[in-house]
Amino acid sequence: MVRTIKLNDGKSIPALAWGNGTGGIEHSGQKAIDTGVVALKAGILHIDTAQIYGTEKEAGQAIPAAGLDRKDIWVTTKLSEASHVKTNHADIKRSVQESIDKIGFVPDMILIHTPFVPENGKLVEFWQGLEALVEDGTLKGCSIGVSNYRPQDIEELMKVAKLTPAVNQMEYHPYVLNHLDPLLALQKEHNIVTQAYGPLTPVIRHPTGGPLKPVLEKIAKRISKDTGKEVDSAVVLLQWTIQMGVVAVTTSGNPGNVRKMAQGETFGKEGDLTKAEMDEIEEAGRKVHFRGYKEHMTKEFPEPDLPQDL
Ligand SMILES: NC(=O)c1ccc[n+]([C@@H]2O[C@H](COP(=O)([O-])OP(=O)(O)OC[C@H]3O[C@@H](n4cnc5c(N)ncnc54)[C@H](OP(=O)(O)O)[C@@H]3O)[C@@H](O)[C@H]2O)c1
Repeated sequence: MVRTIKLNDGKSIPALAWGNGTGGIEHSGQKAIDTGVVALKAGILHIDTAQIYGTEKEAGQAIPAAGLDRKDIWVTTKLSEASHVKTNHADIKRSVQESIDKIGFVPDMILIHTPFVPENGKLVEFWQGLEALVEDGTLKGCSIGVSNYRPQDIEELMKVAKLTPAVNQMEYHPYVLNHLDPLLALQKEHNIVTQAYGPLTPVIRHPTGGPLKPVLEKIAKRISKDTGKEVDSAVVLLQWTIQMGVVAVTTSGNPGNVRKMAQGETFGKEGDLTKAEMDEIEEAGRKVHFRGYKEHMTKEFPEPDLPQDL
């Protein structure tokens, strides 16, 4: 049984996802299928794809290639700018249908990739287009949500939404917590689950690793000892993310790293971070502000005045 997180629409989503939009897998054809198979066979039962990654088809193909049944795997996709979706409902429906056709089935979740996918001033109308597709059965059984939405975007939607977004997918890790505080408070109020992309940013994108480096290394040693498995700082961060109640959307094009990140599904209690370890990570993370993805979430959502490193 993989770890899951309960959504506001009643469904349970696998808490660890393998994405085919980065890590050299995006637009990669056969590699997206082959590495998807490695992830699925290793026990990661959630694939995160998007129109803009050019790998929706491969997300669908990886499932039978791994010898698995579609109903046992969660697939998330996103409507992207590249699809030139306009905000009228017919265009949204056409764009959604294109994704369904490429994936080969109705996915488990569709997100709006950024608040800039809808035409300017049409954020609410776009959301209503997705709601209409749930109502008319096109998206039967499919959760709908958003990505890279800032506090002002969530507030605007929630004034009129009939269906609350199930999730907001964003860059999430200890080095952006100070920035995200108001957004996360709003999501808590509306019971919107956070999905973390870029969860490994402190380990792989921060130039020195920053104040978290020694903390993660210490915890990795402790878990390796207690579980008898080879655990590194990346795996510790994924454990922390999931224990924060957040879906961790990570990736790797390297089968060894894919198998390592899947280990968290098998650790049992010894692999859980203690309350003290969780707090130590958050405290170290909050000392700095560092983003890996600068193009998202910073427009008209001011960043905290903190150093990038100590
Ligand atoms: N909604 C959005 O706007 C948005 C934006 C960005 C990403 N995403 C989604 O999120 C997914 C993940 O994004 P991300 O790349 O930012 O995630 P990430 O988890 O921060 O980074 C993934 C990278 O970490 C490396 N890695 C994995 N395990 C490692 C280990 N044990 N030690 C060292 N390095 C390790 C991988 O490199 P190797 O391949 O060398 O192992 C991989 O390239 C994407 O594929 C996409 O599906 C969504």
